Amino acid sequence: MFSARSSEIAPFVVMQLLQRAREYESQGKTVMHFEVGEPDFQTAEPILQAAQSAISAGHTKYTSAQGIPELRDRISHYYQTLGVAIDSERILVTSGASGGLTLLSALLLNPDDALLITDPGYPCNDVFARLVGARPKAIKVHADNRFQPTLSDFSLAWTEKTRGALLASPGNPTGTMLAVEDLAQMADFAAGREGFLILDEIYQGLNHGPVPYQTGLAVRDDLYILNSFSKFFGMTGWRLGWVVVPPEAIAPITKLAQNLFISPSTPAQYAALAAFDEEAMVIHRQRKEAFVQRAALLSDGLQRLGFGIPVAPDGAFYLYVDISHTGMNSMDFCWRLIDEFQVAVTPGADFGEHHADHYVRFAYTTHLDAIQSGLERIEAALIAWGINT
Ligand SMILES: Cc1ncc(COP(=O)(O)O)c(C=O)c1O
Repeated sequence: MFSARSSEIAPFVVMQLLQRAREYESQGKTVMHFEVGEPDFQTAEPILQAAQSAISAGHTKYTSAQGIPELRDRISHYYQTLGVAIDSERILVTSGASGGLTLLSALLLNPDDALLITDPGYPCNDVFARLVGARPKAIKVHADNRFQPTLSDFSLAWTEKTRGALLASPGNPTGTMLAVEDLAQMADFAAGREGFLILDEIYQGLNHGPVPYQTGLAVRDDLYILNSFSKFFGMTGWRLGWVVVPPEAIAPITKLAQNLFISPSTPAQYAALAAFDEEAMVIHRQRKEAFVQRAALLSDGLQRLGFGIPVAPDGAFYLYVDISHTGMNSMDFCWRLIDEFQVAVTPGADFGEHHADHYVRFAYTTHLDAIQSGLERIEAALIAWGINT
């Protein structure tokens, strides 16, 4: 009765873990959460106020499919602050990066086309390709190239069926960025085969230190860029993001957006105008600094307990952690940790297959005290399980 496509989609293990965590919480137990991929902070106050004013002013009707011109101008100006000139015509506001992924898949892929993605990588990438009948093809990425593909991986994976690639920088679950040369070489390679390169920059702005580029658009202007108000701007539930496309793609993607979404959420768009005001930017930057501090505490604590963090992330709010020293596979590790010590982390299997048994993802979307308590519980777990730290 339901489509083959829908039955092909594997449910996330993390959702089952979250369900288990809620059961413990309903029994009055405290759970230390390291599984949630969204900032714990409330959306910044200036954005909340702007939303209230927008609703009072009656901004509740459809907008243009591309988004309100004021917001597209603000985004264009934001790119200026990142060192690139992007005409607001090339920016289309979407329903989160997820809306952007839907549009780009529909725009760029035909049935049976292959789309290169990475393993590990953001799990939904696979589904966006399948939704339009295309076939995702995973490139296995390794710690020795910071969990990002090289030109050689890329060219080996590219076949006659390949139309393009979807990469992320910084990526989920590893938080690592593509090196400038790798990005430039792969973009050249794709362009040389009349293919496309989509770069997911949803964690842009959440960098832990100086980064090789603020946006891939500084490396090459004809990339398809995905971004979102969800992460750096702290607006996950508002469902707002954007894409930047090359000039020739503006008309066809707008036509798709009109048909698939009519427009992005109107109150959310007016609220997001305030996200770029200095008052809100100061808050976003402070929160970014809080993530940097948390990353340091968690990473030091885990390494002290014998866990491997083969690559320090460049940004985002994740650590991709090697648990090999426990002698357990990551699925058992995650289930025993939640069941016996009420600590929730996500197994590698949610991000692909490559070395998935050895890795788990820790999200540090929780405050320093909770990170400290989580580390103490993990230490207690290792002692109880007889693992030498
Ligand atoms: C790499 C990556 N891309 C896209 C998304 C989708 O985000 P949203 O639709 O909230 O903008 C996420 C969400 O976690 C993500 O991690």
